[in-house]
Amino acid sequence: MTNNVNDSSNNSDFICEPVILVQGGARTIAKAFLEKSALGVRDATLDGYRVLKNGGSCIDAVVKAVQALEDNPYFNAGHGSVINEAGEVEMHALVMRGDTCDMGGCLCVKHVKNPVKAARLILDESDYCLLSAEATLQVARQHGLEERPLEYFITDVSRQKKKNYEDSRSIQKDFDKRGEHDTVGAVALDCLGNLACATSTGGRNVPMVGRVSDSSICGSGGFADNNSVAVSTTGDGEAIMKVNLARMISMYVEQGMSPQQATIKSLNHMKARVGGKGGAISVDGSGRVGVHFTTQNMSWARIGGKFQNETTYSNDCVQFGTDCTNIRTEKI
Ligand code: GLY
Repeated sequence: MTNNVNDSSNNSDFICEPVILVQGGARTIAKAFLEKSALGVRDATLDGYRVLKNGGSCIDAVVKAVQALEDNPYFNAGHGSVINEAGEVEMHALVMRGDTCDMGGCLCVKHVKNPVKAARLILDESDYCLLSAEATLQVARQHGLEERPLEYFITDVSRQKKKNYEDSRSIQKDFDKRGEHDTVGAVALDCLGNLACATSTGGRNVPMVGRVSDSSICGSGGFADNNSVAVSTTGDGEAIMKVNLARMISMYVEQGMSPQQATIKSLNHMKARVGGKGGAISVDGSGRVGVHFTTQNMSWARIGGKFQNETTYSNDCVQFGTDCTNIRTEKI
């Protein structure tokens, strides 16, 4: 759903260095999947960055990056989404642009190969912000989005996640150890100084049919406003919805914090106040970036931008990792 681009938040004269960050889900990542997760977010970030470097918009870049993760079976979105109680897959996605604060979201979607593209269509082509399953499918079909049968979305990895969940449900209370809620997402700043976010997920592991993920909800799974910051969140969706995690991060930036400070403070608040763990990535209009998670792992990658007090990074490199300590840097 779109508004006119006519306010002071449209920085169309402002040329700046592009920035993109990608997250592949906050949880405990099994050792066998650490490398696949790290390379997956690296490659998705490169995909999105190419769009920005060629003068493309931040919204095109975040959709491109998230689409790459939806197509990658090692992430819980699109191909590889978790299986619900009925043995099916329901997916959720959100995109938001910071120049107009327009958004498109879809929830409990089946068969659409790339739910992030459906969210983009809802933003661009419908009069609505958020559509549920049947309405999303209708818009997707009107615009010829690719569809797939159920078997496409279910992978060996998602079957294994379901089995792990069922085996450990009675003994393991800590959500991130059961890999229950993971999500993918991206945030970007483009050459014109505009911000955007995109988030996509299959939801928490083995959800009830019809359970709605925070990843489709503006202010929870993502938020973008040129006047503050673009954010994509991941983790315990029920907790994220209770604190409006993405909007909380943006509010702290509006009050003067750096994206990194705001991201840390908000995730710590979520943990202390409602007992929820998760992660988030953020970027503001000056290219300041934030990455933080309260789970054991979160796969993440970035090209461009600056962390608070950072001195060594050069923006012709992609930086990526699955935790806070083993961060790899490769020239692009
Ligand atoms: N944050 C993903 C979910 O809980 O659905």
